[in-house]
Amino acid sequence: MNDPELRRLRVEDAPDVLAAFTRASDMARQGEVKDLRSAITYVEGLTELAGPHLAFAVVYQGRVVGVVGVTVDSGNRNGWFWYWMHAAFRGRGWTSRAAATIADWALGEGGLHRLELGHRVNNPSSGSVARAAGFVQEGLERSKLLIDGERLDVVAYSRLPGDPLPVVARLRLTAD
Ligand SMILES: CC(C)(COP(=O)(O)OP(=O)(O)OC[C@H]1O[C@@H](n2cnc3c(N)ncnc32)[C@H](O)[C@@H]1OP(=O)(O)O)[C@@H](O)C(=O)NCCC(=O)NCCS
Repeated sequence: MNDPELRRLRVEDAPDVLAAFTRASDMARQGEVKDLRSAITYVEGLTELAGPHLAFAVVYQGRVVGVVGVTVDSGNRNGWFWYWMHAAFRGRGWTSRAAATIADWALGEGGLHRLELGHRVNNPSSGSVARAAGFVQEGLERSKLLIDGERLDVVAYSRLPGDPLPVVARLRLTAD
């Protein structure tokens, strides 16, 4: 199986984004995408030129199967790091490799000095992705989220430029 590649997300990717959101209920927390119009709005928000987001598509056989993003806090040169993968393409290590590649880029060419992310405690695969991408656990935000009537802790991670580099193989990141 060939590796996927990474490039910037584009508005033309909206149908693939819609496919990922409609495939799995756990995508609901990633954004308001329920039809093509809302998928276009979601992608437009992430790709706005003057906006805070840097969104990278994970492309496999011409189709966007996942997204890794960094939402930039330019004043502090920090980035909030996030990711999702279409349910049919999970468990292949692609999100981990994509996240490691984009985190390297963000702390290098991207000019950021701190990346941060958080995941609810009952989403362990997100924690695996974070650690594989070189993030270090900083703490536990107690009772942070209210999901389906239950208050959940969130595990907080960060990656700084001097942290040990991840060992996973990186994906190809193209400039366009
Ligand atoms: C979280 C998510 C991005 C992981 O994507 P993925 O493509 O499966 O990630 P990878 O294939 O790189 O696997 C990451 C790790 O999770 C593990 N994993 C996969 N499903 C798991 C599960 N249900 N429980 C525990 N671990 C799991 C994998 O074994 C792998 O661990 P390893 O490297 O230690 O073997 C994906 O499940 C997703 O898109 N979920 C919905 C959106 C979301 O929750 N995003 C994160 C918000 S904080």
